[in-house]
Amino acid sequence: MANPGKGTFLITGGLGYIGSHTVVEMLQRNYNVVVIDNLSNSSELVLDRIASICGRKPVFYPIDLCDKPALEAVFAKEKELQAVIHFAALKAVGESVEKPLLYYKNNLISLVNLMDCMIENSVNNLVFSSSCTVYGEPDVLPVTEKSPVKQAISPYGNTKQVGEEIIHDTTQSSQLRSIALRYFNPVGAHSSGKLGELPLGKPNNLVPLITQTAVGIFPFLRIFGNDYSTPDGTCIRDYIHVEDVAVAHVIACERLLSGKGENYEVFNIGTGTGYSVLEVVKAFEKASGLNLPIQIEERRAGDIEKVFADTSLSNQILGWKATRSLDEMMSSAWVWQQSLINKE
Ligand code: NAD
Ligand code: UD1
Repeated sequence: MANPGKGTFLITGGLGYIGSHTVVEMLQRNYNVVVIDNLSNSSELVLDRIASICGRKPVFYPIDLCDKPALEAVFAKEKELQAVIHFAALKAVGESVEKPLLYYKNNLISLVNLMDCMIENSVNNLVFSSSCTVYGEPDVLPVTEKSPVKQAISPYGNTKQVGEEIIHDTTQSSQLRSIALRYFNPVGAHSSGKLGELPLGKPNNLVPLITQTAVGIFPFLRIFGNDYSTPDGTCIRDYIHVEDVAVAHVIACERLLSGKGENYEVFNIGTGTGYSVLEVVKAFEKASGLNLPIQIEERRAGDIEKVFADTSLSNQILGWKATRSLDEMMSSAWVWQQSLINKE
């Protein structure tokens, strides 16, 4: 049931990892939510998980954003939309190197179609999923939103850079207002144990590889290089709990609706603290009580040595701050992994 008097938000990619956590945050705050997802990297069963946490489901359209007539039909039907959060994208860096056109088509045509429909229907508020990947290997740490955007090392990364540019340019010549959120490394799972990253295909990211190693899917965790110029020789990242990332979207939508700020704004979404790969492994061992088998291997091509966020702007201007610790990230990821195994 829709809540009259509360805003209605369209969430694209709302059944995916970060999108589903954001749908829950929105529903729990009594907002109305409409989801579009083509299920290319998610499952319709996520809707039941959302309902079991929130007591209601979002309105769901299983369409592809590249299908403009289908998208126009959603906008024709959903007349109350006040803002859009655009998560839908393909995100596997390695695959994007092998199939660049798939990534440019999916990530950019969907964005252009979406913005066209928004402008045609006077839905003027857009939150965009960007990434710290736009900073590449930074010269100065922590990175601020003014740090230079470096040449993208993958077509995936380039879709984020070009996506930001398309949005920036459009906000300068239309009524559209937008906030781009540059996430650092979202990890962990929902505190209910009912939502997390779905294990579709072999993961590439550190935390799902850790938890899948812990349950025996892999014999050991490969550590990509211990000869970096960091305290323990392994790379440093700014890991952030996915529920903190979800909350940032609610706040960004509220800021857009309030009319505050510039037409186009960018915020870093991280904790401001960098942890090394070995520190993450130790935190996981503490959370799970297990010893994780590891093997030091060659550096992974294209890896950044260290990156972490300056979050002053998001703290002060957006009024958002990450609150969950690395221990909470690891324990929630572990609970989620075990729930998947228990179902099999
Ligand atoms: P995800 O793959 O779990 O979710 C994306 C969802 O979008 C999936 O459910 C997929 O089915 C859907 N989708 C993809 N293309 C679509 C299309 N053309 N039409 C309709 N639906 C489509 O990914 P995620 O981790 O939740 O990431 C969400 C967003 O955040 C993405 O834009 C991603 O690039 C960005 N991001 C993610 C990370 C991360 O580490 N997870 C970091 C930085 C930025
Ligand atoms: C990934 C994406 C990047 C995205 C970022 C934020 C890649 C190549 N890049 O990068 O585009 O913006 O997430 O979500 O996927 N590691 C290991 N062993 C493993 C896996 C990872 O040691 O088996 C190390 C990596 O070398 C890295 C760290 O763990 O130092 C984190 O890796 P990962 O989770 O893939 O994230 P990013 O490298 O930050």
